[in-house]
Amino acid sequence: MPRKKIVAGNWKMNMTPAETVAFVSKLRPLVDDADADVVLCVPAIDIVPALTSTRGTCIEIGAQNMHYEENGAYTGEISAGMLSEAGVKYVILGHSERREYFHETDEELNKKLKKAFEHGLTPILCCGETLEQRNKGITLDWIRMQIKSDLFGISDADVAEMIIAYEPIWAIGTGMTATSDQAEEVCKAIRECIAEIYDDYTAECVRILYGGSVNAGNAAELFAQPDIDGGLVGGASLKPEFGKIVRYK
Ligand code: PGA
Repeated sequence: MPRKKIVAGNWKMNMTPAETVAFVSKLRPLVDDADADVVLCVPAIDIVPALTSTRGTCIEIGAQNMHYEENGAYTGEISAGMLSEAGVKYVILGHSERREYFHETDEELNKKLKKAFEHGLTPILCCGETLEQRNKGITLDWIRMQIKSDLFGISDADVAEMIIAYEPIWAIGTGMTATSDQAEEVCKAIRECIAEIYDDYTAECVRILYGGSVNAGNAAELFAQPDIDGGLVGGASLKPEFGKIVRYK
């Protein structure tokens, strides 16, 4: 079974609820006949308007973060149970901005992944190296370390269903896209790492995305790589251009 492509938008801290509804109504006709799965990962306050305005369409809604506890005294946080009850299907975990600005650790991410699976959410787990790490030649070691710690104790069945996004930090929001060879090299290494920890079947099932300055001009070449199953798109997901990325062929 070939893996179905998936294109997920990461809106980050952009779009008000009213802007969400207006954007979705423009996007709907552009993605109607998409072959790929289409996901918008929106700010928490936009989840309900996004769900309402995408009802009956192929667009699924994702969150950008969640807490690893079931509930409790965690002011400002949102739980996996809240997301899944609302109708959210995906959750981005471990984006480099959260790792850097909010000091998220691999240990916390491991707990978040387990909680997401418990509630039937599909995690989009992000990993990626800095420019310094790339220049030192330690990219693959670093990514393998992130994957191994984040997935510790998670079952093969859960991993087969999840999504991993390779996002080189130097390519995020910079316009400096990784070349398709650079992106494929790391995505392939991630799949090999999954085969090592689990088995070939799990590695063949898990969908691996590239993220970092994906746009309508480079999506087709990136997504044509054998180990790249689509993209996690930041800046370009805020524009109608996102429709073109979804229909990249
Ligand atoms: P970008 O962001 O497409 O704007 O580079 C990607 C991301 O941060 O997920």
